[in-house]
Amino acid sequence: MLKSFSSSLVFIIILLSGCDKKSEIPVAEVCVAETSKKTSLNLKEIKKELQQLQDEFAYPCSVTCCELYIETVINEGSDMLKMPSGLMAEGYAIPEDAKKIASYVMTLSGREPTHPEFLTEGNLYFNGNCGGCHGNDGKGLGGAYPDLTLKEFKGVKIHKKMRIETLKKMLKEK
Ligand code: HEC
Repeated sequence: MLKSFSSSLVFIIILLSGCDKKSEIPVAEVCVAETSKKTSLNLKEIKKELQQLQDEFAYPCSVTCCELYIETVINEGSDMLKMPSGLMAEGYAIPEDAKKIASYVMTLSGREPTHPEFLTEGNLYFNGNCGGCHGNDGKGLGGAYPDLTLKEFKGVKIHKKMRIETLKKMLKEK
């Protein structure tokens, strides 16, 4: 009796950890906010990045990669989503504050940021610099601006698609 109980417990644990894995990014993550800037790659590197990107396409970015994406959007602006509200200009916060804001944005989708010590300031700067458009709750004022409470950032998906196309083109040219 005890044996069958413990073996079904083991089964349930395996099942649960299997489910958990599905929502996690595969280990070999390509962070497009970083790699999109790399233009000279050798054949092996192109193939590797392409394979990894295709494997991870369905997953939202990890916390570190999402944070980097948010920082990039703040520092460089964004014109990816083609929303009626238009583009987002660069520099709504200085780079130093962008890091703190990025940490805070992670909590809007219920995630633990890499730097929890940034949260108090990040929250303050978010409300002051970003809340006017994205709403202090991050939901984007009823769809007028991107919803930052989702784990999946639309711009990351678009960047991934574009990067896959670029890599395929690079592969053809080799
Ligand atoms: C004047 C309005 C405005 C302000 C202020 C603003 N944003 Fe945006 N934000 C936008 C718009 C519009 C877009 C969509 C841009 C595009 O087409 O890529 C956007 C896009 C984004 C995205 C990408 C969303 C996605 O799904 O890919 C992030 C992240 C973001 N903003 C974060 C911030 C943060 C953090 C701040 C404060 C430092 C901020 N924004 C300030 C209007 C604004």
